[in-house]
Amino acid sequence: MTVITCIEDLRRLAQRRVPRMFYDYADSGSWTESTYRANEADFQALRLRQRVAVDMEDRSTAVRMVGQEVAMPVALAPTGLTGMQHADGEILAARAAEAFGVPFTLSTMSICSIEDVAAHTTRPFWFQLYVMRDRGFIGDLIDRAKAAHCSALMLTLDLQILGQRHKDLKNGLSAPPRLTLRNLLDMASKPRWSLGMLGTRRRGFGNIIGHVKGVDDLGSLGEWTARQFDPRLSWDDVAWIQQRWGGPLILKGILDVEDARLAAQTGAQALVVSNHGGRQLDGAPSAIAALPGIAEAVEGRIEVWMDGGIRSGQDVLKAWALGARGTLIGRPFLYGLGALGQAGVTRALEILHKELDLTMAFCGHRRLQTVGREVLWQA
Ligand code: FNR
Repeated sequence: MTVITCIEDLRRLAQRRVPRMFYDYADSGSWTESTYRANEADFQALRLRQRVAVDMEDRSTAVRMVGQEVAMPVALAPTGLTGMQHADGEILAARAAEAFGVPFTLSTMSICSIEDVAAHTTRPFWFQLYVMRDRGFIGDLIDRAKAAHCSALMLTLDLQILGQRHKDLKNGLSAPPRLTLRNLLDMASKPRWSLGMLGTRRRGFGNIIGHVKGVDDLGSLGEWTARQFDPRLSWDDVAWIQQRWGGPLILKGILDVEDARLAAQTGAQALVVSNHGGRQLDGAPSAIAALPGIAEAVEGRIEVWMDGGIRSGQDVLKAWALGARGTLIGRPFLYGLGALGQAGVTRALEILHKELDLTMAFCGHRRLQTVGREVLWQA
């Protein structure tokens, strides 16, 4: 097998090992995928300034995100259906993250439940909340996250309605999945994945099934979720959720300066500049392009983070230089998970950490706290 040296190696291996329906679910964006592509391309367009003859010994990439010490400014993003990239995927990813010293965020739409992940980890993780019409269910989810000692709540604001992804529709990705002959043959041709799935009980949305009256299988779940994403979400809901939760709150999915100003007024600890990995508004700017204006507009009143398109440690440094005091990664860890399970997530984190550490040094810094915009090269 080829040696895994970069995130792209993990992506290729995941593509071979994960059934097409679930691989495509991760590796796709909405409509023409122009925003999905721009997320990566706009990072590539930024150049770094190389410095020489400066002391590069004793380096550290450790920082704080919402007051919590992290080994580098990278957290695992909430991703739905992670347990379909690999059996027990959320548990494996959470374990890799805790061993590495970075946060793991469990999605509302996860396969393993909050309680499952809590039972298989030793350190607090973060929980991501989608606002559903059923506010009673939301309140219960917040209480369950508290009971599981989650140490931050990430409220996603950019998915009141769903962007359309061509591949998912064509592959029959739905709840329950369309088990066409093509899908079944594809799963049978991925024996590692299939055996893993046969060996686990966790195959439905664990946070929902069994916790909502009348939702006890994939069929009833599909009908329920289709009705539940709430198009009427407002800033009043944010205040209500904040009060019910009472801990560190992170607002995810901000892409506009005006929305960032409103987010800063809520008293939330952090906001994530994000276009949902190019999966919602196709034609929106890349997250790295939107970042500097937002960082400037909120002027330190709220921590600014970003996600979308990070595929290397160089990207993490570029985001930091433009004002992001934290980043989230989605696909990089999903590819690792699909490729090699927990070891693959660990590998993804090792790759990003090493790249970040060396890139910081090449730019003449020993710690991130001294890095600013001046590390970006101007012609
Ligand atoms: C996501 N994302 C996401 N966000 C969220 O708040 N809740 C969720 O359940 C999901 N689900 C989800 C599934 C998959 C397969 C992907 C790829 C993404 C968005 C995610 O948190 C993050 O914003 C992006 O993944 C960041 O972009 P990159 O790192 O994937 O380029």
